[in-house]
Amino acid sequence: MRQGILEKYRPFLPVTEQTPALTLYEGETPLYHAARLSQELGVQLYLKFEGANPTGSFKDRGMVLAIAKAKEEGSQAVMCASTGNTSASAAAYAAKLGLDCYVVVPHQHIALGKLSQAVMYGAKVLAMEGNFDQALELVREITDEYPITLVNSINPYRIEGQKTAAFEVCDQLGQAPDILAIPVGNAGNITAYWKGFNEYAQARRIQHLPIMWGFEAEGSAAIVRGVPIEDPETIATAIRIGNPASWQTAVAAATESKGLIGSVTDEEILDAYRMIARMEGVFCEPASAASVAGVIKQHRQDCLPAGSTVVCVLTGNGLKDPTTALESLDVKLEVIPCSKEAILQHVVMERGL
Ligand code: F0G
Repeated sequence: MRQGILEKYRPFLPVTEQTPALTLYEGETPLYHAARLSQELGVQLYLKFEGANPTGSFKDRGMVLAIAKAKEEGSQAVMCASTGNTSASAAAYAAKLGLDCYVVVPHQHIALGKLSQAVMYGAKVLAMEGNFDQALELVREITDEYPITLVNSINPYRIEGQKTAAFEVCDQLGQAPDILAIPVGNAGNITAYWKGFNEYAQARRIQHLPIMWGFEAEGSAAIVRGVPIEDPETIATAIRIGNPASWQTAVAAATESKGLIGSVTDEEILDAYRMIARMEGVFCEPASAASVAGVIKQHRQDCLPAGSTVVCVLTGNGLKDPTTALESLDVKLEVIPCSKEAILQHVVMERGL
């Protein structure tokens, strides 16, 4: 029987008798063994496919708790800044509990699928002429001044909910991986995973902690550069963030685990994005592919220990961003006449028959 994360991981979460039993059946996402990529990289590579969550991203794990607690605390409205996934998730869970939801997104820098989700779930969507960092600053001020609950990952309940993904990885593998690779945007998720692994170690559910590898997009790699970036850029709009709110805790996760925060170029992201789909049959969104791109880069630099168990978090579903999928095709769609010959002509040519 499927349970949501509030029920399944209740002892690890700040859930009380008064907390609404909210769920859209988030969590229990697949951990795929990536056999072909494993062979190529000389490791045991697994893909934690968070795109299988109800709104198609890992945000659902944190949002279910943040929205349930908002309701428990008597709030009637929630607000977030978002590059897209947070807004989709907030809108869905707010709808389920009958809360009003306001989302501020960077105009023209949000994937089509995410925008349509937020609109469809009934959120008030404001497309702001500015970037994510600016939007976040403003919604922080507004939620400080007005009785509206902020549901960005600065809300501690978001991190609490998201840490359940680390629990699940360990439950599915039977132990912690040697290396956990993850995309970094606002840096909430790497913070949440590290917290989750530590809590599982404390509860003696795992014997060792993983090394944490976080990857930013090069044009938005504030942590790697050591300074905030005013005009962050990347094709991976989900992580187009120049001043991560959880900067310090992301650095702590990397340092304490003897890991790293690195960066990958848009080209490396797109290469990995296509490889994951074509070699493993998993369609993730571009930002998600930063985890695999980072592991491939480490391998090229001889920094990926052979034989290790590596989990790459694929944070969101590829269907969220059909535009980038189609534009990144290296083969153009071919229009053919409606005839058997026309089809065969291509098959025969391609197969050399
Ligand atoms: N991957 C995806 C698909 C995301 O949507 C995000 C963040 C990240 C990775 C990075 O996670 O911020 O915890 O480091 N998306 C946020 C949003 C910012 O508004 O949807 P992070």
